[in-house]
Amino acid sequence: MNYGYFDDDAREYVITNPRTPVKWINYVGTLAFGGFVDHTGGAFICKGDPALNRITRYIPQLPASEFKGETLYLRFPQGHGYKVFSPYFVPTLDPYDRYECHVGLGYTRIVSEFYGIRTQVTIFVPLGESRLIRDIEITNLSGKPVEVDAIPVVEYTHFDALKQFTNADWVPQTMQSRVRRETDGLMVLTQYAFMRRSVAVNYLTSNHPVSSFESDRARFLGDHEYGTWANPLSLQEPELGNYEALRGDNMAALLHHLGKLLPGDTKRLITYLGQEPDIEQALPRIQAFREEARVDQAFEDLASFWDRYLGKIQVRTPDADMDRMLNIHNPRQCYVTKQWSRYLSLYQPGFGARGIGFRDSSQDVLGVMAHVPEEGRQLIEKLLGVQRCDGSAMHQFNPLTMIADEGDSREVEGAPRFYGDDHLWIILAVAAYLKETDDLAFLNTVIPYYEKDKQGNPSGAGTVLEHMRQAIEFTHDSVGAHGLPLLGFADWNDTVNLAAGAESLFCANLYGKALLEMIDLDRHLGNDEMVARYSACYEEMKAHFDERAWDGEWYVRYFDADGQPLGSRANIKGQIYANGQSWPVISGFASPERATRALHALYSRLNTRNGIKLSAPGYDGYDPAVGGISTYPPGAKENGGIFLHANPWAIIAEALLGNGERAFQYYAQINPAAKNDRIEEFECEPYVYPQNMLGDEHPQFGLARNSWLTGTASWAYQAATQYILGIRPIYDGLRIDPCIPAGWDGFRIRREFRAAVYEIEVQNPDHVSKGVHRVTVDGRQIKGNLVPVLARGQTHHVQAIMGR
Ligand code: GLC
Repeated sequence: MNYGYFDDDAREYVITNPRTPVKWINYVGTLAFGGFVDHTGGAFICKGDPALNRITRYIPQLPASEFKGETLYLRFPQGHGYKVFSPYFVPTLDPYDRYECHVGLGYTRIVSEFYGIRTQVTIFVPLGESRLIRDIEITNLSGKPVEVDAIPVVEYTHFDALKQFTNADWVPQTMQSRVRRETDGLMVLTQYAFMRRSVAVNYLTSNHPVSSFESDRARFLGDHEYGTWANPLSLQEPELGNYEALRGDNMAALLHHLGKLLPGDTKRLITYLGQEPDIEQALPRIQAFREEARVDQAFEDLASFWDRYLGKIQVRTPDADMDRMLNIHNPRQCYVTKQWSRYLSLYQPGFGARGIGFRDSSQDVLGVMAHVPEEGRQLIEKLLGVQRCDGSAMHQFNPLTMIADEGDSREVEGAPRFYGDDHLWIILAVAAYLKETDDLAFLNTVIPYYEKDKQGNPSGAGTVLEHMRQAIEFTHDSVGAHGLPLLGFADWNDTVNLAAGAESLFCANLYGKALLEMIDLDRHLGNDEMVARYSACYEEMKAHFDERAWDGEWYVRYFDADGQPLGSRANIKGQIYANGQSWPVISGFASPERATRALHALYSRLNTRNGIKLSAPGYDGYDPAVGGISTYPPGAKENGGIFLHANPWAIIAEALLGNGERAFQYYAQINPAAKNDRIEEFECEPYVYPQNMLGDEHPQFGLARNSWLTGTASWAYQAATQYILGIRPIYDGLRIDPCIPAGWDGFRIRREFRAAVYEIEVQNPDHVSKGVHRVTVDGRQIKGNLVPVLARGQTHHVQAIMGR
């Protein structure tokens, strides 16, 4: 069974059967205003923050057939009443003659046919705007005239998303709706929480006369809500009740009589869901967007944004699934994770327990750096603003208030209040920004640390470079009994929570990698003293690592507070961890011999046809001594599941060692596009990476969950473009260092870099996996494989020949 197909020319995935195993979604807008739209028209929308300023009531846990957030009803006269149906299939579930949901770049377009009526709805948020547009075209295919009414509907939530569910008296007492009638029957139906009526007013409006409206859910559904979303009783009446709800469950429904459509006729109706501080002031802009031409322009602008964004890197390889991911869907997902961190999805419904994650976003930034370095830098600045004076980082922060906290560590009494890895990731992010842009002045930008004095003023501040140095110093000074970095509450693997004093080999390697970045940077800046200091730190940690971490066949992952290893042959469960093997290669700590053996152990003990498991064997029962990992059954999530985020690190490690076949095998086996024909097993969207799949210890091996918001996006993209295709930005230019399957004849890549276009053609006549022996730039041979920074504003032709 499959549920749709890739349309690469349109840069869409087209869903052709609405009964997907779980909702398949698409993101619209940004965190400033937006959210996601599911493939049956439901919408989860917020402005600035899903926890503190949520607009629609979207409850992912409800069955797929239920109404969620927003929908559209159409109706035509039938018998003494009306035939009412939704062109989105949900919530009326009428039989359809055609159903397509086009998942596009920043828009979703649903095309359906029911009862001879074709509906096309294009849903998007214009760039920089606080309005969700639904551009609706209704065509009469029935062969006879038909009177059509269109009733767009929104269900609102209290702005405090959690309160909506925790207080069912206060919330409904505060919810209010008012109508604002305009000339020519136009109408803005507003909604707000009483105390926010002068600061945040939601509204639904359209570009067509409205004959009546409803704002109270009980009245809309009818019969004290024994009417249902599938069959709202009020829609059997000629008009809605025109009721301004001053309490209760607020919604918005606008009844439009589109009139008689003759056979072949099309009518266009555009609706707008938005939020403004002040509707009167916003009216000119609301009115401007009622022009069809304005909406068309906004849609074109959105397409241009994506042209520019995706144009930064385009590839042509021998693998079609790789191309469609690298040219369209993977960089798109990187942009989405950069926007939303892990804060708003079907699986992470944005109730405020999380915010913007420090480690998560620091890694997300890496995935967009080639495309929107400015946006990357802005996010880096925010992240640095929640770093503490001692160099460690707050675990997450709320994007509206910029209030940060220590994440799950707060829930465990006596647990360390820092994460061993968080602060180190930002070094990778800043380095990537500098290599992409050469904007070295950024290093001098002063950013306050997170701590505040009694007046709320920052207790300290440092330049970006000082923030980076502080991060290094924190780990340098926070080591345990073996001289290895302390784990803190957890490292990247959030779910291994050991008693204070435990050490993390992952942090040792991330520290090593961060030191390599600092050495590189300080060399570039000419700071010889710092190069010497960081080189010494690197050698010191490498020595501790060499001495302690090797377990005979692979590397250990942790030492607990008593010095006992985890991720060792000595353990019964959790004997080997994937990151334990890949990261020593990435950090350069592993000797060539141990690197090979460790990666072999990873392959033979952790690889499956669906991807690499994070660890094995899975714990089989809750063990407070290891924490969160043992809350899952064996094979799920971090406990022996295929945690996709860690897979690209194995790709990178294999590529660094020159194993092009293995690197590509690891890449291809997790490529979601290749799952399109195995959806019954996979279940999630085939156009994005999910965070996890069940591993082979679980009966539902291969089942994916938590799609979209995962570091897999950023790392799969980096692994593919920078390590398999091997085009790596460095301070002095672009390094061309591919590691590909030997069978490939070559590939092409177009890369915009520092305002020049590099048209790169890699040829592989000898059929090797690694090694570039001849490079020409605009016809002239250069030494080595480093293409220097070339003249701006021009296109340059680079030819690289691989061979022995
Ligand atoms: C989740 C968290 C991330 C963590 C990962 C592994 O994806 O968002 O911070 O690194 O799980 O535990």
